[in-house]
Amino acid sequence: MHRPHRARTPLSSTLLATACIALGSACASPARADTAPAGKFTATARVSSLEQAAEQGAQVFANDTFGTHQTWVPPNAFSNHLMTCAACHTGGGRSEGSTPAGQSIPSLIGAAAKYPKFKGKKHAVYTLERQIVHCVRAGIMGKPPAYDSPEMIDLVVYLTQLSKGATMGSQFSR
Ligand code: HEC
Repeated sequence: MHRPHRARTPLSSTLLATACIALGSACASPARADTAPAGKFTATARVSSLEQAAEQGAQVFANDTFGTHQTWVPPNAFSNHLMTCAACHTGGGRSEGSTPAGQSIPSLIGAAAKYPKFKGKKHAVYTLERQIVHCVRAGIMGKPPAYDSPEMIDLVVYLTQLSKGATMGSQFSR
């Protein structure tokens, strides 16, 4: 993170502290320019437990079409169902599979524990939310849910429940 107002060496931070005493309240840390202002945080819809949020997440996973017009025709079946997460990730995300184009679809058991994950091709670190956005855009071809939307939060809860007991941090090589 880039914080130009921070002194870099112990010596200059001592000088800064001295200056702050002299300036009094005028020396409060400047507002950070590198973060967005706090927005309206919707969080999850009112729930009475984490399990209930996971159940809602399972419903989103099975049924939400995220505004897509894209339909899914599985091999050997005729269907005009609109795309959902479950269209690709069968068995509630517990099964492995492949797309008609032959791309392999991983089981999502344990997946949540592998994030944040380094995506070499993108030279970027993906959070679980970022991966979900990717699957909504590229898989469902719909409009991704906001990071603080009930749909996103409930999906994260559901996927985390599928990872119960999985080892955190196994994505690190050291
Ligand atoms: C068109 C098929 C398709 C749809 C629809 C789809 N996915 Fe995926 N998903 C994939 C494929 C293929 C991968 C593996 C390649 C990748 O990471 O992009 C994947 C990977 C993932 C991963 C990462 C797994 C890991 O081990 O890192 C998560 C999490 C995930 N999907 C969640 C979802 C959710 C939630 C939805 C619905 C919002 C969804 N996917 C919709 C095809 C799809």
